[in-house]
Amino acid sequence: MTSDLVIVANRLPVDRIELPDGSVGWRRSPGGLVSALEPVMREDGGAWVGWPGSPDEELAPFEHDGVTLVPVVLTSEDVEEFYEGFSNATLWPLYHDVVAKPEFHREWWDAYVRVNRRFAEAAASVASEGARVWVQDYQLQLVPQMLRELRPDLIIGFYLHIPFPPAELFSQLPWRRQILEGLLGADLIGFQLPEASGNFVRLVRTRVGHKTHRDRIFLPDDRTVRAAAFPIAIDTAGYESLARSPEVEERVQEIRDAAGGRRIFLGVDRLDYTKGIYPRLRAFGELVSEGHLALEDVMFVQVATPSRERVGEYKRMRDEIDRLVGRLNGDLGTIRYPLISYLHSSYPREEMAALYRAADVMVVTPYRDGMNLVAKEYVACRLEEDGALVLSEFAGAAEELRQAWLVNPYDINGIKSALLEAYGAEPKELQRRMRAMRRTVLEHDVASWALSFMEALASGPGEHLKPLRPARKK
Ligand code: F6P
Repeated sequence: MTSDLVIVANRLPVDRIELPDGSVGWRRSPGGLVSALEPVMREDGGAWVGWPGSPDEELAPFEHDGVTLVPVVLTSEDVEEFYEGFSNATLWPLYHDVVAKPEFHREWWDAYVRVNRRFAEAAASVASEGARVWVQDYQLQLVPQMLRELRPDLIIGFYLHIPFPPAELFSQLPWRRQILEGLLGADLIGFQLPEASGNFVRLVRTRVGHKTHRDRIFLPDDRTVRAAAFPIAIDTAGYESLARSPEVEERVQEIRDAAGGRRIFLGVDRLDYTKGIYPRLRAFGELVSEGHLALEDVMFVQVATPSRERVGEYKRMRDEIDRLVGRLNGDLGTIRYPLISYLHSSYPREEMAALYRAADVMVVTPYRDGMNLVAKEYVACRLEEDGALVLSEFAGAAEELRQAWLVNPYDINGIKSALLEAYGAEPKELQRRMRAMRRTVLEHDVASWALSFMEALASGPGEHLKPLRPARKK
């Protein structure tokens, strides 16, 4: 059986669960991409190609919630060299402003090529004639070209969820040309921000030598590729209704009670060195130690979801944050009032919605971030149009959420001033800012994001034009 719409992503959109009878089952992952694509996937009998998440797992394709899931195997060596290595210790730091030093290893590159080919072959085997295939993110940048070679009939889209770096940084990559050519296999390449698509088009012109005009790239084989910005969004209505639910209301009260009347500053991140957890905690600690904020009045809740734990830089930064939290609590906290509540764990969406509602000041300070959905989730959950958002100017979200207190995460004094201002803002000022930000996240949600990409994909400029709703599953 083949599909007219195929998503190709590093991970499958499901998490493995154990059923009451001890057998293995699958539950839809909480991500916004999944919920945005699910309706159109179902309608079009879509397929999703991805890795089930653990090494050496060989699974046959299976149906889940009306979508065909096509598992791709990663061996332990692939996980080490393709996922932890080239994807997360080479590309990830390189694309995030070289916040950590990227490592370049030829064996990792070989693994990246090998695994990308496996994904391309899996996609080629499930796509029907003329199908639309949408490839996701930095782990799979060679797939568009590989897939086009296997299946020239397909319409291929690619979306990069993380930043695309300026030429000065990208040019460090020994395999820069192969990556650019890999991406050019797509008809449409989507980025978070116009700055990123501009970086890409300039690099294609200078490094590969293709003619370009604005967002169009003209290839020698007469194909035209478009590179444009499609800023990603969240399932706003889903978050709003979650935030409104009686269970979440109840949990908000419990969290507030546990805070004992103190106002809550909140950080929610994957434990990643790009997220700027360190400077925000330092800034907060200094405000308390210098007497600008009183220990009896405030606390900081930092949720740090475990992530990529076997990668060296992640281990190092975890130790660094552990030490800082220990020092701040040890130096400044008391039995009654620990300063920082540090939660190294992942939580369901309900708990996040309750935390967003309970928090007075949301602190999002990445050194570099493609978008940062946490900032948008916080805004979506602020039903009363209150609460303050302190946001790094280096997060993609800062382009849209202009009414946040924008900060430079490298400037600790600047973060301190913004935290104090946000904390002390008048209710009217909070409302003015939050109302405007809520308008933004309500107007532009993940469903409209996915639709705008799919419409742009269907309308060219490649030669493989095709109506948006193709024939049903064969
Ligand atoms: O933000 C990029 C991203 O790859 C997301 O697509 C993903 O949800 C997140 O990071 C976690 O990544 P991983 O799959 O490495 O756990």
